[in-house]
Amino acid sequence: MPAKKTSSVRIAIIGTGGMAHYHARFFQKTRGCRLVAGVDTDPERLKAFVEAHNIPEAYSSTTELLAQSEIDAAVIVTPDPYHKDITLECIAAGKHVLCEKPLALNYRDAKAMTDAAHKAGVINMVHFTYRNWAPLQKIAQLVQSGKIGEVRHVEASYHQAWLVSKAWGDWRTSPNWLWRLSSEHGSKGVLGDIGVHILDFATFPAGAIKSIYCQLKTFKKAPRNRVDSYKLDANDTAVMTVEFSNGAIGSIQTTRWMTGHLNRILLKISGTKGSVSFDSEISESTYQICKGADIDKNQWKTIAVKSTPNLQQRFIKSIRTGTQDQPDFARGAEIQKLLDASFKSDALKTPVKIR
Ligand SMILES: NC(=O)c1ccc[n+]([C@@H]2O[C@H](COP(=O)([O-])OP(=O)(O)OC[C@H]3O[C@@H](n4cnc5c(N)ncnc54)[C@H](O)[C@@H]3O)[C@@H](O)[C@H]2O)c1
Repeated sequence: MPAKKTSSVRIAIIGTGGMAHYHARFFQKTRGCRLVAGVDTDPERLKAFVEAHNIPEAYSSTTELLAQSEIDAAVIVTPDPYHKDITLECIAAGKHVLCEKPLALNYRDAKAMTDAAHKAGVINMVHFTYRNWAPLQKIAQLVQSGKIGEVRHVEASYHQAWLVSKAWGDWRTSPNWLWRLSSEHGSKGVLGDIGVHILDFATFPAGAIKSIYCQLKTFKKAPRNRVDSYKLDANDTAVMTVEFSNGAIGSIQTTRWMTGHLNRILLKISGTKGSVSFDSEISESTYQICKGADIDKNQWKTIAVKSTPNLQQRFIKSIRTGTQDQPDFARGAEIQKLLDASFKSDALKTPVKIR
């Protein structure tokens, strides 16, 4: 039985590490919901989390949560390999689910999660954070309404620097970074971590990808490429050449080696009547456009965009109204398909068609 529509949505956050604090802060600012429980296998982290956010209930497992607590929705913020099983357990109990990205470790699992959510009739969303950036929503409208004509060329990049910079801590001594570098700990490398974001960021406005050619690289980072129990084998740079269903081609890149850029997203989409551009280091609330009379003058205009509801607000609204918003699990699964194709392309050294 799906969870009932309710006036105040009771939420549990499962996995109370770094990103859980972000969710807690956003949900606490969202009307129509209450944070009632935290869940973590690490008792100290759990205690610190529920105390920091004044959350009344704490559990050491999802099973314990579902048996003992009256919740309507779960927000799953564990490391990637646990997303699938925890999501399926919550859905089986009729709970709405907002799951962190990547939705799963492969398309088959992501599809199973999508099918389970549809069958149970629960609201399901995947946390592609950058959908919160209003310029992306505006760029998608402009491109899809034909304002820059037929799309010809797309460039998209997501850069981070934490393999060199210590601004976010030292990865060599931080479990929250080390698991991201190790396949044995369920990581799909930079591609699964932030590649999913840039694939969503590029394809949401520019449309579906029909073929992908991907090169992945894992550089040696430590003696024997190991730190304690972490074998450092997950990719840390990905470069993709893609063809879109609308005929455009493009390049999509992501890396953790971009020293000087802690967390930068770039997008440029060019068509037969103009170009749009976004650079998070210029501003997260503006985009640039060159069209009409500006084309021959080679000039760009900077346009400021009013903020749009964030994913936490949209998740709660979906539950309260019973109307599924985006990005849903089906979208998460589509992005997962692109990840699977990227790994296959890298292994075969050839472009792979998306089916
Ligand atoms: N959307 C974004 O922008 C964004 C940003 C950062 C992280 N994330 C995603 O959020 C998730 C968590 O990342 P993080 O940086 O917070 O990791 P983290 O390592 O800081 O925290 C994960 C927490 O989950 C707990 N945990 C592990 N297994 C569990 C289980 N079975 N049940 C309950 N708790 C369990 C760990 O003890 C830890 O406290 C990942 O999937 C990551 O990809 C998303």
